[in-house]
Amino acid sequence: MRRNIVHPQADELVYEIRGVVQSAKRMEQAGQEVVWENIGDPVAKGERVPEWLIGHMRAVVSDYKSWGYSPTQGVDEARDFLAGANNARGGVQITPGDIYFYNGLADAVNKLYGYLDSGARVLAPSPCYPIHSSRERFHAGVGAEAVQYTMTPASGWLPDLDEIRRQVKDNPAIAAIAIINPDNPTGAVWPEETVRGVVEIAGEFGLFVVADEIYCRLTYNGKTGTLLSSVVGSVPAISLKGISKEYPWPGARCGWMECYNVDSDPDFKRYVHCMFDAKMQEVCVTTQPQMTVARVMGDSRYEGHLESRRQAYGKRSREFAEAFSALDGVLAVRPDGAFYAPVAFEDGVLNGRQSLPVENAEVKAILDDALARPGLSVDKRLMLHLLAATGICVVPLSGFNTNVPGFRMTLLEQDDAKWARTLKTLREKLEQYIASA
Ligand SMILES: Cc1ncc(COP(=O)(O)O)c(C=O)c1O
Repeated sequence: MRRNIVHPQADELVYEIRGVVQSAKRMEQAGQEVVWENIGDPVAKGERVPEWLIGHMRAVVSDYKSWGYSPTQGVDEARDFLAGANNARGGVQITPGDIYFYNGLADAVNKLYGYLDSGARVLAPSPCYPIHSSRERFHAGVGAEAVQYTMTPASGWLPDLDEIRRQVKDNPAIAAIAIINPDNPTGAVWPEETVRGVVEIAGEFGLFVVADEIYCRLTYNGKTGTLLSSVVGSVPAISLKGISKEYPWPGARCGWMECYNVDSDPDFKRYVHCMFDAKMQEVCVTTQPQMTVARVMGDSRYEGHLESRRQAYGKRSREFAEAFSALDGVLAVRPDGAFYAPVAFEDGVLNGRQSLPVENAEVKAILDDALARPGLSVDKRLMLHLLAATGICVVPLSGFNTNVPGFRMTLLEQDDAKWARTLKTLREKLEQYIASA
């Protein structure tokens, strides 16, 4: 090219969850059978939605109206339903006009950070689902440091409100606090007082709150999540929800923003409207998935469907915690929400010398090639060895903007025997890897 065409922050947009797939695909071609534990797609892992739910989708497709453009903000019937459901729960009251549909929540997240003033920073969790952290850094411009609050396995992956307050106080650029509850990658479900605490800090310092609540109805082990709407009071805020994980229908690309207390602050109102103006240029988002929302979520069988999924993930979460218990230097906190499970390591447990034997010479060559890349983190090294030696494909925690080394697997395996085998293999190989140097 006669001039540079590469965005100065091109390297910021790393998405390790799919990034690991490249090495895994190469090893698969070389004969390694891969157990995909990297991606949070229940459908890819074999979950089936019930027939009645598919029936609603069929009815929508048969309605020829669904083939057309929809209103820019979203299908009226879906927004009416969601506003009504929100208001019936109590807490902050909204109108259908406070709801904006997007092509999946990832699209909403992009817009949310993309239309903020570049000097306005959003304090995000660490670890953090990467679309939030990388989009936030990207919007802040070249050389911007991450602004994050720390969550560690020692505190059950929950944040320290004092740290959040300190960061907000010390950094006047912070304009919002982001939370993901229930959390990806940790599966933590925040207690009500913690969500309330974040809202209080935001209110005190004139910030807004962003709550990614895409997993809000997927909690188990006796935990129920606290919706932001129930504690937000009069603080400006945005809740992000969707159907990718709930139905689940990730391929629908359908998520939405619920904006709370838009009129309480003129800047917040202008910001929300700016996002809407930008949407108008995109005409609308996918019509058909939106048209299923009121039908599916309003169906009396929906709650039972969610409950059976909660039971299944709860069982897996307990099996996960049991499988990694009493392993020196390993911290596998039982998740209580979403469908991810993080295995973390105490400081110094992983190093750059450990390895696992790999029998297949071609797979070993791919491993060596991947290991030769500069700047490899200790948990990416572990992930690559696990992949080459066992075929189990997990995501290194360093891919979630954290200094805590570890990996994330899922609770999505449908086959009990395969799941038991995966846990057993991982435990054995971790012991072997840690002892190898
Ligand atoms: C916390 C969180 N937010 C948003 C998304 C994106 O969801 P969608 O499929 O609606 O784009 C995901 C997907 O894994 C997620 O885990």
